[in-house]
Amino acid sequence: MRKMYLLGIAISLSSPSGWAQTPPSALPPKDVFVADLLKQMTVDEKIGQLRLISIAPDMPRELIRKEIAAGRIGGTFNSISRAENRPMQDAAMRSRLKIPMFFAYDVIHGHRTIFPISLALASSWDMDAIALSGRVSAKEASADSIDLTFAPMVDIARDPRWGRTSEGFGEDTYLVSRIAKVMVDAYQGTSPALPGNIMASVKHFALYGAVEGGRDYNTVDMSLTRMYQDYLPPYRAAIDAGAGGVMVALNSINGIPATSNMWLMQDLLRKDWGFKGVAISDHGAIIELIKHGVAKDNREAAKLAIKAGIDMSMNDKAYGEELPGLLKSGEVPQSDVDNAVREVLGAKYDMGLFADPYVRIGKAEDDPAELTGESRLHRAEARDVARRSLVLLKNQAQTLPLNKQAHIALVGPLAKAPIDMMGSWAANGQPAQSVTVFDGLRSALGEQGQLTYARGANITDDQKVVDYLNFLNFDAPEVTNDTRPAQVMIDEAVKAAKQADVVVAVVGESRGMSHESSSRTELDIPASQRALIDALKTTGKPLVLVLMNGRPLTIDTQQQQADAVLETWFSGTEGGNAIADVLFGDYNPSGKLPITFPRSVGQIPTYYNHLSIGRPFTPGKPGNYTSQYFDAPNTPLYPFGYGLSYTNFSLSDVKLSSKTLAPGATLTASVTLKNTGQRDGETVVQLYLRDVAASMSRPVKSLKNFEKVMLKAGEQKEVQFILSEDDLKFYNADLKYVAEPGEFDVQIGLDSENVQQNSFQLL
Ligand code: NOJ
Repeated sequence: MRKMYLLGIAISLSSPSGWAQTPPSALPPKDVFVADLLKQMTVDEKIGQLRLISIAPDMPRELIRKEIAAGRIGGTFNSISRAENRPMQDAAMRSRLKIPMFFAYDVIHGHRTIFPISLALASSWDMDAIALSGRVSAKEASADSIDLTFAPMVDIARDPRWGRTSEGFGEDTYLVSRIAKVMVDAYQGTSPALPGNIMASVKHFALYGAVEGGRDYNTVDMSLTRMYQDYLPPYRAAIDAGAGGVMVALNSINGIPATSNMWLMQDLLRKDWGFKGVAISDHGAIIELIKHGVAKDNREAAKLAIKAGIDMSMNDKAYGEELPGLLKSGEVPQSDVDNAVREVLGAKYDMGLFADPYVRIGKAEDDPAELTGESRLHRAEARDVARRSLVLLKNQAQTLPLNKQAHIALVGPLAKAPIDMMGSWAANGQPAQSVTVFDGLRSALGEQGQLTYARGANITDDQKVVDYLNFLNFDAPEVTNDTRPAQVMIDEAVKAAKQADVVVAVVGESRGMSHESSSRTELDIPASQRALIDALKTTGKPLVLVLMNGRPLTIDTQQQQADAVLETWFSGTEGGNAIADVLFGDYNPSGKLPITFPRSVGQIPTYYNHLSIGRPFTPGKPGNYTSQYFDAPNTPLYPFGYGLSYTNFSLSDVKLSSKTLAPGATLTASVTLKNTGQRDGETVVQLYLRDVAASMSRPVKSLKNFEKVMLKAGEQKEVQFILSEDDLKFYNADLKYVAEPGEFDVQIGLDSENVQQNSFQLL
């Protein structure tokens, strides 16, 4: 078992594999126990187990408890406290067979303490920090009686128009797969049966990130080789790590909705990958089969879904209403329903609920006095993880770090934005508990320096957009505009800027702009804020842009106007403190982009590991019939893997232990990394491979390993990567996972563009 210590907190990182064989108590082994229970169940009780319902605050609780006691509900989501869930579990204990309920929730990047959004977590490239965020989330959620999270979300996102880009870990298969495993291990710990741990349900299976045009819920059409090579591995990594659940995607895949896709759910997931857990539909997805145009009514939708192997129906009525008739008529064999029930019961067994239905609910006398109390937060952990996730994109003439004696003008609509700080899918995070950028700078300065604040602009002045964002969020309007005329706000900000030594402008998106159902056709900073930046630029004062956003934005003009740019994404409960740590140099930034920043929407997709092509862009080639747009460069604004530090690093040439690699043997690639600057700092050494001539066109480079390295000023270190034949494998045209003999380039760099290269032959 590996133990890691971050901030003095011991976190067990042992692999959960094997837990399923270990009964959580003196219960019989899972298969025996479940088979026995199944035999005792009526048809209605079986169908009841397949229903997962959403609990809204205004739902009649008594009715729900009645349904549960009658064995008609298998689990809930969105009921998120012990006091709320206990009476439901009590009701389950009154049911004939006392089958416990489970309680699920979208714990995506924190439960009560909100960590940076997933895209930001990925920007840390720090597996210990990411694990810490997952462990704390599991501990907090479990303490609130949550048994299962709909996470990790590992959809590869190559089109930042898609609002859910913020929820995932970026564009790269290798990086996302590494994180998928880390997250599953962190949520489930040594066993999802134990209190303090929760079951992971990886989503959205599959390929949701590839919706056409980046428009949410749109279709996905993709070659099998691209699927196997680029999009499927992260789900597989989560499943191989033992994820107990899979949430099925809302999209279709090559014309067949995931929810009715036999190939996806049966052949790939169950047969090829050996998945043994529970498959849960997404919200209302079974009935949506009608709108997909593959089912004529609810009855057919239920039939298609159960046949495909969707075990649980999330918040739609199809299973409850239609399965009884379908079973009676013989259109659905009993074995299909039994298989689904077996998986649901098996998951409950694995969550430890048969051993103790109250394993996470506990006793009423132990319920927290203050559900959202300060004492329940993990602020130190959130701050540390958040600062590791910030990415320094530009720092001209050492504008950063800022001097604490300086007079700072802090402007921008996101400088005091507690809700936005948390990002979307912020579970039970309380805006009042989040530290804004203003709060963070204020407390870092203490009695020193001077801080003048001016809002400067609204996030957007486009009322249609404001209405849309507020409509998305039904609890309370999230975007409230200052009603002063735009020019008045700008003038106020300019005045503040003129009096200050430096301007820090916090600009970008509201959290709702990077969310489910929040796709955009443009990725600019909204016009109101661009006008503010233009005006600030005219003051001639050093200008620092602090970006808050959930996806790459097209900021070419603004990054040229700025002296320094810090990408902070949505950095969570402690975001403001973390940002202050970096702005003042109390923490040296070390984040690297997990996704490419395009110059314009027209360049999308801009992912770095594109295939080699016959006419690659060749600058300066006369006539130039090479692949390019003639009105803009091919290169991205910021490449994948990019991020600066307050110190400088140099990399030596790549040394290889041998120029050949025999199958079954290994080869070591090494570089010497040197901190050539004045400060201690961390960076990420990234190893990419290129298969020079293969049976198919292969990517110009693919990330295969990385190491985050801390070096004191002046220090150097040899960084070694061990390569084997496995690192060279890919899915060929017959979908065979093979390594083909021939030449391979090894590229090592501190981002994906600037690399040192060497090569070897696979024998
Ligand atoms: C729909 C979303 O697509 C999914 O990610 C989420 O887990 C469910 N709603 C439940 O909230």
